[in-house]
Amino acid sequence: MRDVKPIEAITAVEMTGESADREFDFELYLRQRAALVEQALADRVADAHGPASRLLEAMRYSLLAGGKRLRPVLALAACEAVGGAIDVAMSFACAIEMIHTYSLVHDDLPCMDDDDLRRGRPTNHKVYGEAIATLAGDGLLTDAFKVLAQAAAQSGAAHSAPEALLETIAELADAAGSAGMVGGQVIDLLGEGRDLRLAELEELHRRKTGALFVAAVRGGARLGGGSPEELTALGAYGAALGLAFQVIDDLLDVESSAEDLGKRTNKDQARGKATYPALLGVERSRDLARELAGKAERALGAFDDRAAPLRLLAAYAVERKL
Ligand code: IPE
Ligand code: IPE
Ligand code: MG
Ligand code: MG
Ligand code: MG
Repeated sequence: MRDVKPIEAITAVEMTGESADREFDFELYLRQRAALVEQALADRVADAHGPASRLLEAMRYSLLAGGKRLRPVLALAACEAVGGAIDVAMSFACAIEMIHTYSLVHDDLPCMDDDDLRRGRPTNHKVYGEAIATLAGDGLLTDAFKVLAQAAAQSGAAHSAPEALLETIAELADAAGSAGMVGGQVIDLLGEGRDLRLAELEELHRRKTGALFVAAVRGGARLGGGSPEELTALGAYGAALGLAFQVIDDLLDVESSAEDLGKRTNKDQARGKATYPALLGVERSRDLARELAGKAERALGAFDDRAAPLRLLAAYAVERKL
């Protein structure tokens, strides 16, 4: 059995095999990073007593329901790829996962995709009702920016320059808001029952999913002290990866099961959603996702071994079954 070291002490460099006695285990890396994020989220969105405790309960119900934590893991990996320590990006990683989770809570509402299963559990509104679910989403979104801004007030080694944090907050808001994810969700809903052209579909996926991926890696890298060139390269990586990720999400809706995914399948066609498999078919969609993952990897050409987890994350995003 491998020797066990506290997960906070393990760096990506060690995990990627530069350390002679430790071979890289990507699955283990993902699990460990997800566990770190899980703990950081639980600390930052604490249980509360008092009149609004039901709200916190609803927020934590969806947030701590065991998602893949891919966006925060990407943020931490990008921070390390430019030589930063993950502590400086942990609040940012939590903020992005909180925003992502809010987007899922709202995405599942009856007025949107009307889903009853998420992360292997009944959706938020099925448990707490639509009003509380809506407010739980509002709470997660707003508190995400609180968590991030509070990171600026922290003292000690584990913090980045205030300008870097400010730029990161602005970019995250842009990616999550009307120009990014929320705008993408609108295109998605208004596109129901319509045949979108390929360019329109790409724009939809870039906004609703790609924008947060770009913000995750650029933000993580900026907080880790990355250069403008590194941020540009990571932006290209995140854009290709985010698009590939949503293409695979569309494919899993067609090919997987609720048991495996923890969310309902065969819903997109039923709702007349514009998706890649609907437009291109299953095979061409998978080819495209693989091509995009290759493009993402190539964007990392100038990075050294510290970017190895990002390279593996690109392959994972398209070969995943969950
Ligand atoms: C689902 O995202 C919604 C999309 C943007 C495709 P994930 O597949 O990352 O969901 P979780 O966080 O693991 O539940
Ligand atoms: C959701 O896309 C994208 C978000 C911004 C939440 P989907 O509607 O395809 O996500 P799932 O399949 O419900 O997770
Ligand atoms: Mg949706
Ligand atoms: Mg949905
Ligand atoms: Mg989907």
